[in-house]
Amino acid sequence: MTFKGISVIAIDGPSASGKGTVTQRVAEKLGFHYLDSGALYRLLALAAMRQQVSLDDEAGLAKLASGMDIRFEQGFIWLDGESVDDAIRTEECGNGASRVAAYPAVRAALLDLQRAFRKAPGLVADGRDMGSVVFPDAALKIFLTASAEVRAERRYKQLMEKGMRANIEQILHDIRQRDERDSARSVAPLQMCADASLLDTSSMTIVEAVDEVLARFRQVCVR
Ligand code: CDP
Repeated sequence: MTFKGISVIAIDGPSASGKGTVTQRVAEKLGFHYLDSGALYRLLALAAMRQQVSLDDEAGLAKLASGMDIRFEQGFIWLDGESVDDAIRTEECGNGASRVAAYPAVRAALLDLQRAFRKAPGLVADGRDMGSVVFPDAALKIFLTASAEVRAERRYKQLMEKGMRANIEQILHDIRQRDERDSARSVAPLQMCADASLLDTSSMTIVEAVDEVLARFRQVCVR
């Protein structure tokens, strides 16, 4: 299959940087498809917990990853025919995702699944290794970040809006820990690749960040 002409915008960055929202809005504006790659690791963690596959069993997890019955449809995520949007957003699944994501065999098993999202007219994909591993030929690679303090504040507000209790010090601590784990792992660590362009959104609104990504995309399109 040739991917000629099907542009990918890869948006990588740390936890709570706002890349999910920015990615989704950029995809909407361009009429492109959208890949939330983190959701795949969360789905695998959920499937493993439900089917009692140990999060220490790399081969078992890789096998499970290749056979998962998942669908992204009408804005919802389905696992074995059940809508699991809320179930995969728990802290437990987030932590499980970050554990299963550290196994090379798991990452390899999810590679084709991620690449299958590349369909006309284009794709906007968010994660940690979209530009470095999954779509190295992406037309535009953005490394979207913000200071740990700003990210903690954003997550705190998000939780408050959902009526959930939260402690900002604890959130900041968790964000720093997740940054450390995602950056230190040996396979596909979180790092900005040489051909990516940095977008620090510490003092930007979501709308400004979306506009900036669109402007950078227009620039690469006219080149
Ligand atoms: O937004 P947040 O960082 O909380 O979570 P996410 O994007 O849903 O990703 C969950 C976990 O999956 C992350 O902590 C990463 O360890 C892992 N992940 C990854 O390794 N590679 C990706 N392309 C996406 C997520």
